[in-house]
Amino acid sequence: MARYFKFRSLAELEAESRNLGLDLRFSDDIGPLFRSVQVGPLRVGNSLCIQPMEGCDGTLDGHPDELTYRRYRRFGAGGAKLIWGEATAVVPEARANPRQLLINERTAPDLERIVRECRQAHREAVGSDDDLAIGLQLTHSGRYSYQKPLIAFRDPILDPRIVVDKSTGRTIDDSYPLLDDDYLKRLVPHYVAAAKLAHRCGFHFVDIKQCHRYLLSELLAAKTRPGPYGGSLENRTRLAREIITAIRSEVPDLVVATRMNVFDCIPYRHIAEGAAGEPCAWEAPVRSAWGTREDNPFEPDLTEPAWWIGEMAKLGVALVNISMGNPYAVMHVIRPFEYPPPDAYETPEHPLIGVDRHFRLAGQLQEQFPQLPLVGSGYSYLQEYTFNAGAANIRDRRITFVGVGRASLSMPDFALQLQQTGKLDRKRVCRTFSYCTAMMRSKHNELGQFAAGCPPFDKEVYMPIWEQAKKK
Ligand SMILES: Cc1cc2nc3c(=O)[nH]c(=O)nc-3n(C[C@H](O)[C@H](O)[C@H](O)COP(=O)(O)O)c2cc1C
Repeated sequence: MARYFKFRSLAELEAESRNLGLDLRFSDDIGPLFRSVQVGPLRVGNSLCIQPMEGCDGTLDGHPDELTYRRYRRFGAGGAKLIWGEATAVVPEARANPRQLLINERTAPDLERIVRECRQAHREAVGSDDDLAIGLQLTHSGRYSYQKPLIAFRDPILDPRIVVDKSTGRTIDDSYPLLDDDYLKRLVPHYVAAAKLAHRCGFHFVDIKQCHRYLLSELLAAKTRPGPYGGSLENRTRLAREIITAIRSEVPDLVVATRMNVFDCIPYRHIAEGAAGEPCAWEAPVRSAWGTREDNPFEPDLTEPAWWIGEMAKLGVALVNISMGNPYAVMHVIRPFEYPPPDAYETPEHPLIGVDRHFRLAGQLQEQFPQLPLVGSGYSYLQEYTFNAGAANIRDRRITFVGVGRASLSMPDFALQLQQTGKLDRKRVCRTFSYCTAMMRSKHNELGQFAAGCPPFDKEVYMPIWEQAKKK
């Protein structure tokens, strides 16, 4: 079990980056993090974003619960001005776990409370919330829907990994039905209804989620799906285009954003305790991955993602959050880690390579779309040097917003700390121990899902939950 993060200074980290031939950049001047940004009609007061971080702590019928409100109060009080609300399902069958948020008429008053409490906490902490933007991620979990997988095409690598019958261990095979075109078409009004409700609740923007191989992300890769939603690039982007166009026309005052994969890569497998992940077997051409070279699926190909970002900008999408990988199958790509969660392998690459991949691909796209605000991901691995990198990336126009995922659970007030003291409280810096992911993957309580948070650094609340979760 190799460990990598042994840096005692920024200079040591920079030296390692150079040894690895990476283009990680750092700056001691963190001023760029506090630049305000115009996002469509919204003025966002700084360049710090809290990434969507599901707490898996809603009620069984999809309402937020006490821990959910608490999380958004902490995010609000933390000083970051772009708060990207978590995955919220647009229809019940699309939830990824039994405690995922669901948006409908019944849950809307409670989603409104999230916005209200988040804004209030922000005002109490920093004075004004005029320049705070809060969004909601609208999702359909597709093949990762917890009641049953809802798949858009036959993926020769992912299908055999997904169990559809726990008693027999049967996985998705050729007899498993694909979602039909009618079902997909009928999702458009559901997304529009969700957007209308989100707008009524006071969210400033909605995210039409196209990342991490949930449904709209899977469709981008559906090269082998027949019919109007598969095959050509135009067809693979059809459903997202119909959703974005309908929301823009029916809820014109709402800002539309998207979190999108720009590189799927191919699934990795966990072969033995303590072993590095290994790529699953593949054959060229790989026709089941988006943003990925067909002849070499370890390498990104941004041609299609760049084209689609340009098209979405024309449709009025005002903000794009760049991500990659798959949290169930390509963990090191989505979130470079030091310690793997229990369902994952040890990292097959130096985690700095993963961080560099995030920054490089986002940087190439930001260069191509200099006017479009992009949010970067994959920062938490850099621990106390996260914001030196973020400031350099903004300075060099490689990104507009620095997005903070796991570290926002251990230290939701990173923006205030930086603003007030110029540095972070080292005792609460996320060390990528992966407890949060381990909790997300723990399902053996009466609700079928444990809440996810940060046991080491948000101890009082999450350590007792972790004590229960780790029993299995
Ligand atoms: C507990 C947990 C919950 C997450 N929830 C979401 C989510 O709701 N939507 C989403 O797009 N990504 C989600 N992610 C991914 C993060 O937003 C982020 O992309 C990832 O952790 C990498 O960023 P980081 O290195 O800053 O952590 C989640 C990750 C974790 C660990």
